[in-house]
Amino acid sequence: MGALPAEQRIDPSEEQRREVVRRIKEAADIGEIIGEHVTLQRAGANLKGLCPFHSEKTASFMVNPGRGSFHCFGCGEGGDVFNFLMLYHRIAFPEALKQLAERYRIPLAENTLSPQQREEARKRENLYAVNARAAALYHHFLLHDPAAANARAYLEKRGMPPAIISRFQLGYAPERWDFLRRVLEGEKFPAQIAEEAGLLVAKRAEGPNPSPHYYDRFRDRIIFPIVDQTGRVAGFGGRILGNGEPKYLNTPETPVFDKGRTLFGLFQNRDALRKAKSCLLVEGNFDLLALVAQGIDEVTAPLGTALTAEQLRLLRGYVEEVILVFDGDSAGLKAAMRSVPLFLAEKLTGRVAVLPAGEDPDSYIRAHGRESFNELMRQARSLPEFVFDKLAEQHGLGVDGKNRIIAELAPIVHELDDQLLLRTRFIAHFSERLGISSEQFGQSIGRAPHRRPGPAATPPPPGPDRQNFTLSANEGRIFAFLFLHGRYLPEFLAAGLRENASGPTATILLDLMVTHHEKFIRAPEVLLEYTEGGLKSLVSRLLIDGGTMYPEAVQEESASELIAWLRRDDRRRESDQLVREINAAYQAGDQEKLLALMKQKQALSNGG
Ligand code: GTP
Ligand code: MN
Repeated sequence: MGALPAEQRIDPSEEQRREVVRRIKEAADIGEIIGEHVTLQRAGANLKGLCPFHSEKTASFMVNPGRGSFHCFGCGEGGDVFNFLMLYHRIAFPEALKQLAERYRIPLAENTLSPQQREEARKRENLYAVNARAAALYHHFLLHDPAAANARAYLEKRGMPPAIISRFQLGYAPERWDFLRRVLEGEKFPAQIAEEAGLLVAKRAEGPNPSPHYYDRFRDRIIFPIVDQTGRVAGFGGRILGNGEPKYLNTPETPVFDKGRTLFGLFQNRDALRKAKSCLLVEGNFDLLALVAQGIDEVTAPLGTALTAEQLRLLRGYVEEVILVFDGDSAGLKAAMRSVPLFLAEKLTGRVAVLPAGEDPDSYIRAHGRESFNELMRQARSLPEFVFDKLAEQHGLGVDGKNRIIAELAPIVHELDDQLLLRTRFIAHFSERLGISSEQFGQSIGRAPHRRPGPAATPPPPGPDRQNFTLSANEGRIFAFLFLHGRYLPEFLAAGLRENASGPTATILLDLMVTHHEKFIRAPEVLLEYTEGGLKSLVSRLLIDGGTMYPEAVQEESASELIAWLRRDDRRRESDQLVREINAAYQAGDQEKLLALMKQKQALSNGG
């Protein structure tokens, strides 16, 4: 034993893993899975949409359902359904595997995960599980426990019908320190997990025996479960009954809860959003529920924090337009100003609706009804217009006023110093409104005072380092063709594909294709499994290219055309070589060799 080289030893769990992966790939509909997060449109054999991995204005993200692959021609990200889920949800392979295995009911052996990966996946599962249990307990308590009478009365006073309470699984955490703790204890949920989920708080005793004491974080509060995009409870918001401080208590950040990447109501309202292609963004949880109670479902709410690029990117998967609904008194100028670049970057139309002073969506719709509210939404102004008008109102449009407006806009422009296109569009809009030239505007704003530390405004594409893997244009065509019609591989090899390789990329790729040629001919997407980084990006691109460049109808023609090109190239190479040898023979005065070589050259030229 131990004599076999590593690559010949077969790891049974590895074998098992590949088998499960293969079955999942067969079962999974990549168009459906990606389509849940990205709006896709048919484009020939492919589906096309805006890339969820970088900001873009024209769709360069392609999905090939037949091959189970995707590729973005903008940022180069690409791969199979696993790679998509890993990138999109920022999870490791084992978790993507687990999610898909569950979804398609394919049994998964535990030993396919490394111990650390198993640990992490299990922890996240546990957090989701304890959240789900807590949500159910709070909900049940609200509906049935006599001690929830006040909470029920409160919700009724706020106009929440039973249908809303059940659709959003609203709950009530009773006024006790040990309600949740005791139930979870009885059900053998480890307290540390509940602590990590933010449901219990640990009070660590001092002294030699510091075993912690746990108590409930949420007490005497209305509970809003926050459901993430996977449909699972990621965290909670808890509102006090009536007045008091703090009004809301939210789950802190946990491994499954990231406020900046979550929107309240997104999961429950996703179908309505898709249909309306437009989303109202309101500030409060109760604003959202009040609108839903009146039949307005295309609405989400951030969790009390400023709107983030990630949240807009989430929304971009469902809608084309977001309407920021501001309360009358907050007016929201600062928030609106800050969000302008985010909207530009995500290519979402931003609009702003302002309610009369003293009103929020909740109070407004309850006082004036749905029709009147909808009318206000129809009047929503474009976001940049809104920002400009507000600034003009505040500072006037005299020389001083204009300077002050420019000074207020300057920090936003500097935020965009790394994104020239957005910067230009932003400046163009505001300089036009100010009646000055873009150059003047740029000069008044000056240079950025200093580079902000930390990541640049446009992050590099995610994923591993992208080495340069490049093919010549004709190689690109040949490989794209071969990815569509693998059975031509031997013919292309015979025509000198390998000898003509213009660089290492073509050689590496050919080696892969030849090594796995049986699988490759059947299903070229198999190469996604054997590639990483830049090479994977190239493979995913070729899987899309083939479909767009070579419709089935012209395959034979394409093959002969491409092979002819290869042969021509092969002859040119041979001819160059002969010329070099002829020169050498001439220099050496070797008449006999010279004659032979020239005959050869003649034959080659005639053969063309
Ligand atoms: P009411 O109508 O007053 O019951 O509340 P609301 O749900 O409409 O919320 P409001 O407009 O006052 O605040 C907007 C959002 O900010 C809330 O839904 C919460 O997510 C968040 N928020 C409000 N107050 C607090 C607070 O005291 N602490 C934290 N962490 N978040 C809060
Ligand atoms: Mn409110």
